[in-house]
Amino acid sequence: MNSAIEWNNRYQTTAHKPPPCQVLAAYTHLLPSSGTALDLACGLGANALLLARHGLDTYAWDYAQTALERLQAYAVTQPGQIHTQVRDVSVSKPSPATYDVIVVCHFLDRSLVSALIQALKPNGLLFYQTFTRTCVNDCGPKNPEFRLRDNELLLMFADLQVVVYQEEACIGDTTQGLRNEALLIARKIPFDKGNSIHTSSALE
Ligand SMILES: C[S@@+](CC[C@H](N)C(=O)[O-])C[C@H]1O[C@@H](n2cnc3c(N)ncnc32)[C@H](O)[C@@H]1O
Repeated sequence: MNSAIEWNNRYQTTAHKPPPCQVLAAYTHLLPSSGTALDLACGLGANALLLARHGLDTYAWDYAQTALERLQAYAVTQPGQIHTQVRDVSVSKPSPATYDVIVVCHFLDRSLVSALIQALKPNGLLFYQTFTRTCVNDCGPKNPEFRLRDNELLLMFADLQVVVYQEEACIGDTTQGLRNEALLIARKIPFDKGNSIHTSSALE
């Protein structure tokens, strides 16, 4: 994985500001109108900016200070609160039952899965989008360890209720659709209401 130094250098030398990721931009209507949100490994924070504009009290964490400085400069030009923090998220994980919304985009650290699930409040929503090993071109990380296996997002967050899942792989006209990436929106159900199907019983 790139180090914080490498990411800082990258943010210092590129003027490019990516837009909010599709998992958030296409499903903004699923966001609560108030509450607390976290953009984890936020980079320049396009997702954090969208969450804050939507009215959520937004936290944005990344270990690249340069990115957060640029995010703070963007944030003053729009309504909403963004609390930026320089933080190694693999070491300082989010606290349990703290966020109504968590967004993770183009970042994959499998050791964070259980902390992310725990960090959601009851009914909290996880928006996750990142690169897949099955891809139609070479965009994204070269190291397969930082790319999802087929169906992996579903398996990682099997304890959450799936709201939206998209993984188009190389099916059909690969010049269209979401390619090279998978996206998941999933909800933390407060308790087992007795109407969820668990994989093992569904297969019996
Ligand atoms: C590909 S960028 C994605 C940024 C943003 N989420 C987006 O979609 O535009 C990956 C980001 O993860 C950050 N990152 C990588 N490892 C990290 C870690 N252990 N702790 C905090 N940030 C990390 C990098 O600094 C970089 O900003």
